[in-house]
Amino acid sequence: MTIITIGGEKGGVGKSTVATNVSVVLAQAGKDVLLINTDAQDTIGSWAAIRAEDHANKHVVHTASLHGKTVSKEILDFSERYDVVVVDAAGNDSVEQRQAMAVSDALIIPIRPTAFDTWTLDTVEDLVGQPRA
Ligand SMILES: Nc1ncnc2c1ncn2[C@@H]1O[C@H](COP(=O)(O)OP(=O)(O)OP(=O)(O)O)[C@@H](O)[C@H]1O
Ligand SMILES: [Mg+2]
Repeated sequence: MTIITIGGEKGGVGKSTVATNVSVVLAQAGKDVLLINTDAQDTIGSWAAIRAEDHANKHVVHTASLHGKTVSKEILDFSERYDVVVVDAAGNDSVEQRQAMAVSDALIIPIRPTAFDTWTLDTVEDLVGQPRA
């Protein structure tokens, strides 16, 4: 019933790493977790394939891939069936990220502690405001 998006404006800052780790910790705590990939790269799909071999049947994290303008609706549908839905966004402003933000209870924005990266926070603040509106 809880939806958490891992997003932001920057690529390569650890979004997929945070998304997978948060999902596993929640599964270890006994939650039914769905981890959704919205990135064309599908890091989550590759991670899931390796994890299925290395940790079969252990603290299962289900995964899915969603794209396009129906992402909000599909996330809401999935959230009825899972305790927690975690969404891994691509490293840029995208339809999918906006759709996910609009229905999320929490947004986690990993960021590197550099000036260049913190300068993107204003843009991210705009991003957060728009889907809610
Ligand atoms: N806390 C961390 N400390 C050091 N390295 C990290 C940390 N988190 C992630 N990394 C490494 O940084 C790289 C990028 O991480 P990751 O793929 O999770 O970023 P991303 O934000 O999802 O990237 P993309 O925007 O391409 O989707 C990976 O090699 C990952 O192992
Ligand atoms: Mg990623």
